[in-house]
Amino acid sequence: MKILGIETSCDETAAAIVEDGTKVLSNVIASQIPLHHATGGVVPEVAAREHVVKIMPVIEETLSEADLSLDEIDGIAVTQGPGLLSSLVIGVCAASTLSIIKDKPLIPVNHIAGHIYANWLDENPEDPIQFPLIVLTVSGGHNELVLMNSHTSYELIGETLDDAAGEAFDKVARLLGLGYPGGPHVSRKAEVGNAKRFQLPRVYLEKDSFNFSFSGLKTAVLNLVKQEHSERGELSEEFIVDCAASFQENVCEILSDKLLAAAEKYCVKEVHLAGGVSANKRLREIVTEKIENGFFCCHKGKPVKLSTKPTLRYAKNLVYCTDNAAMIASAAFFHYQESPDQYLKTVNSLADPNLRMYD
Ligand code: KG4
Ligand code: ZN
Repeated sequence: MKILGIETSCDETAAAIVEDGTKVLSNVIASQIPLHHATGGVVPEVAAREHVVKIMPVIEETLSEADLSLDEIDGIAVTQGPGLLSSLVIGVCAASTLSIIKDKPLIPVNHIAGHIYANWLDENPEDPIQFPLIVLTVSGGHNELVLMNSHTSYELIGETLDDAAGEAFDKVARLLGLGYPGGPHVSRKAEVGNAKRFQLPRVYLEKDSFNFSFSGLKTAVLNLVKQEHSERGELSEEFIVDCAASFQENVCEILSDKLLAAAEKYCVKEVHLAGGVSANKRLREIVTEKIENGFFCCHKGKPVKLSTKPTLRYAKNLVYCTDNAAMIASAAFFHYQESPDQYLKTVNSLADPNLRMYD
């Protein structure tokens, strides 16, 4: 089954064609990063106008890259939410219109579910993904731990109480005078920094909690930056790299500890990283090390032993970590397989900026 996926939830206009949920036939992304660089973040109206201009050319390009016509597509998938309403409606309108004109099933997809399915793209048939699994979804807008028992069973285990990890990366990048989006900039600086130089607050919340909180950490970085400005004026390169490294280490330690604590509690076979921050090299390294060593820290630095070593997965191709439409087409395929009849009646889909994935 060949599905055309469409994604416009934030600042990327994306379209892709994926066969049977795993084989990417084409994947086109028109990035708006240079457009939002000047403002250091996404201005919704600016993003929406750009989606209007790009949506049809991007769909046409993805069809031509896969050497397919719309008639050869079996279904159309679109991000319904969560995201920016004015951005979402562009993709939803395009997908609904194409589905009506071409009489194809329309499959609305939750953006976070989409990120989760990035790990199914280019899956090796000899090493299939096994349930139950825990996914850490870490992006600019969301930061959750999700337990999956099947393709239709998502249980929210924990979530951020304030900032998402990606949002914290973006805000710290702005404080350090780095570019947008912040994550890749901070992580490049962190590579040459001393992660032990600054003792930043490591917030685990109450014992056994799977929730996250990064706003205190962000404020601690703000205070450090203010102090450095008042004592030395300009931020030195040495300060920037050490601050980036200390911040990144802190975030990655907390994310990995909570992910593995959840893996231990729910006896899962696999642990997955998904979303923009899953592109972070240090996060991948720390989770890999902890699984290999068989230890993680649960609360207040107390080491806990993993009873089994789960399989770790993340998208090898970094393009699948950040927003793209291939992940949307993949999620749509697996959901469609579970209940195809449900989608026969859907000819129009409503964009929902606050769409939830859980009951
Ligand atoms: O999934 P995504 O493209 O969009 C949302 O759904 O939010 O994630 C974007 C987020 C941004 O906050 C960006 O700074 C972060 O992912 N990000 C990273 C890295 N690459 C992207 N954060 C840390 N390290 C990276 N290498
Ligand atoms: Zn996203």
